[in-house]
Amino acid sequence: MKYKAIIFDLDGVICFTDHYHYLAWKKLADRFNIPFNEEDNNLLRGVSRAESLEIILRKHQGEPFSAEQKEKMLEEKNETYKEYLKQMSPKDLSEEVIFTLLDLLSEGYRIAIGSSSKNTKFILDRLGITKLFDAISDGTNITRSKPDPEVFLKAAEYLGLEPAECLVVEDAKAGIDAAKNGGFDSCGLLDARDYVNTTYGIDSFKQILDVVHNN
Ligand code: BG6
Ligand code: MG
Repeated sequence: MKYKAIIFDLDGVICFTDHYHYLAWKKLADRFNIPFNEEDNNLLRGVSRAESLEIILRKHQGEPFSAEQKEKMLEEKNETYKEYLKQMSPKDLSEEVIFTLLDLLSEGYRIAIGSSSKNTKFILDRLGITKLFDAISDGTNITRSKPDPEVFLKAAEYLGLEPAECLVVEDAKAGIDAAKNGGFDSCGLLDARDYVNTTYGIDSFKQILDVVHNN
């Protein structure tokens, strides 16, 4: 058995918060008359909150914002986003995801989260699955965002394993690059399925089981 643990990205892999991120950024962007659409939102996948704001501000015309103003904007976005997150419940977890996680655990694999989000624990609690994970590495314990491998390296460290013993599951190209940069093999879903740096492109979450069984 090549892999001892699976490290999951959260947003876009375990659950789908993209639209809530979009609505929260859109509200902020509209207030400052900055053009922002769903396509712009796709550029923010896997990217930290602060870096996301910088990407959004590339379309801002006029006086640049001060560090203090940006800090307020980040807080404002997160307040809106958290209001949306409060709507989440265990019903937002697909049967495929929960059954696959439980299968992996029953087969002796350890599971961890490797997410850029500082809201990771809040989201996992809303979904009711915090206790399933052996380790959680998230936006609160890193200083560098994906494609830097820090978040996955920390997850491996918390598990007491080497990167080569862990398989990363990602939906974002930045996340796949982070895995590769850290020496991890990866499963890529959605946008990341056919990406050149993805080790195993998969069509659905449960195919993670095929990948670990074949290795
Ligand atoms: C990632 C999302 O999981 O978390 C990004 O894909 C988001 O879109 C990032 O910007 C940071 O999230 P948060 O919850 O800390 O604002
Ligand atoms: Mg993601």
